[in-house]
Amino acid sequence: MSIEIYYFSGTGNSLYVAKELCKMIPDSKLIPIVGVLDNEEIMTKGEAVGFVFPIYFTTVPVPVRKFLEKLKIDSAKYTFSVATRLGTFSVANVCVNRILRKKGINLDSQFVLNMASNSPTGLKPGKGDEDWIKKINKEKVLQLESEVQAKLNIIKKAILGREKILPKVIFNPFSAVLERIMYIITGNTKTQINFYTDSTCTGCGICEQVCLAKKIKMHEKKPVWQKEVDCYYCYACFNFCPMQSILVKNKYTKKTGRYFHPDVTAVEISGQKQKDA
Ligand SMILES: Cc1cc2nc3c(=O)[nH]c(=O)nc-3n(C[C@H](O)[C@H](O)[C@H](O)COP(=O)(O)O)c2cc1C
Repeated sequence: MSIEIYYFSGTGNSLYVAKELCKMIPDSKLIPIVGVLDNEEIMTKGEAVGFVFPIYFTTVPVPVRKFLEKLKIDSAKYTFSVATRLGTFSVANVCVNRILRKKGINLDSQFVLNMASNSPTGLKPGKGDEDWIKKINKEKVLQLESEVQAKLNIIKKAILGREKILPKVIFNPFSAVLERIMYIITGNTKTQINFYTDSTCTGCGICEQVCLAKKIKMHEKKPVWQKEVDCYYCYACFNFCPMQSILVKNKYTKKTGRYFHPDVTAVEISGQKQKDA
């Protein structure tokens, strides 16, 4: 009766959700997607298998979909997905379904949770709010998450009861077409984000630790984003920098907001890279 919860998380929202589910569901186990991604074969062992991940650019982050494409999921008699997001329209569920259907699997339950955004242009608490970083605190996040807590209980019950909870519109031609378009566009992982550090960088190396793609290497106490390594676009480096020294050229300044989930640490984020964690 074991339950495997595979997760991917750049700034902790999805990890928080995965951890909460693991606490609430007996005989469940957390497995970081990044830690198994390079395995030749990824084979599930759980009788129930779930996926928790953030939505990027309306769809599934590229490392998550690579993982799903590689996954051998024969052990699962029940499957579910939980996507966390800021709250835009999304085709992530369409994408997960399409990949799994090719393996003869139909997701039994799909959930979406709106949470505080890790994107500096995020709409919560206010669009373009330059003071965002000062206003957001643990209390505010928990307030935003009272809805998340309520939904987590519904998700827990659904998983324990092996219930089928699917979006009302299962097939929508517009979403199906958009999903394919986004799949192609976001598949171009060569796009470089122009990260750089200002003079306040202390060379602490937290950015290198939390970089899930292993793109950052410290050189002479400064982070270097290696061009030949694809970015996962998780913004962990940007959001976890304790000095807010990491900026994006012509886009994000020192004043734009930073966010990571208050109940998740940089060590937990970097822990996703451990094999067999
Ligand atoms: C590159 C990027 C793209 C994003 N795109 C979307 C989006 O299309 N829709 C949305 O609602 N949220 C979007 N978000 C917000 C995240 O989905 C949201 O903050 C999520 O909970 C982060 O999860 P994590 O903390 O586990 O990484 C995006 C975030 C990033 C970094």
